Amino acid sequence: MYWWPVTPVAIEAAADPDPGQLADIHAEGFPHAWTAADIAKLLNDETVYAAIARRDSTFGSRNPVGFVLARLAADEAEILSIAVSTPYRRVGVGRKLMEDVLRHLFRERIGRLFLEVDAENQAAVALYRKLGFKSVGERAGYYREGREKPATALVMRYDLR
Ligand SMILES: CC(C)(COP(=O)(O)OP(=O)(O)OC[C@H]1O[C@@H](n2cnc3c(N)ncnc32)[C@H](O)[C@@H]1OP(=O)(O)O)[C@@H](O)C(=O)NCCC(=O)NCCS
Repeated sequence: MYWWPVTPVAIEAAADPDPGQLADIHAEGFPHAWTAADIAKLLNDETVYAAIARRDSTFGSRNPVGFVLARLAADEAEILSIAVSTPYRRVGVGRKLMEDVLRHLFRERIGRLFLEVDAENQAAVALYRKLGFKSVGERAGYYREGREKPATALVMRYDLR
């Protein structure tokens, strides 16, 4: 059987990532992917915090394998998107990205972090619950694009203070 090792991953605050590479990762995770231009705009927005997971390679390549974007407003924040490239899923990258955001928000004295997630997205809902997010609301029929049946969005919250 063909086997390729999943190399260790380091999380860092976005230092000039390539928006095209992040758009490719986004496209693996969402039916309606953001373009590189959409992502570039968010990376240049000073209210947005971005953390990137990079593959540590002995060959020198440090390609991104996941990212998270969060918007800060007053004492609250919102997850705009999180995505991990398929071969790097289920090895703790998503959790590390979210923990990085939570540390950053704590340092910025943010009180509450919100997010919306498709109630049927078992991986994401499990990740958020494991981190300590609580469901605080539901929006029935919220996700419509590209679906036969509209899906419910769960609104989740994490209290930092
Ligand atoms: C959701 C996503 C970011 C999770 O990233 P990940 O790196 O695979 O997650 P982790 O490996 O850190 O998993 C942490 C925990 O989340 C839960 N989890 C993650 N993937 C899961 C899955 N497929 N099924 C069930 N639980 C899962 C588990 O509790 C896991 O802990 P464990 O491995 O010790 O059991 C990833 O699946 C992804 O990019 N999905 C597509 C984009 C997306 O849906 N983003 C969220 C939109 S709100």
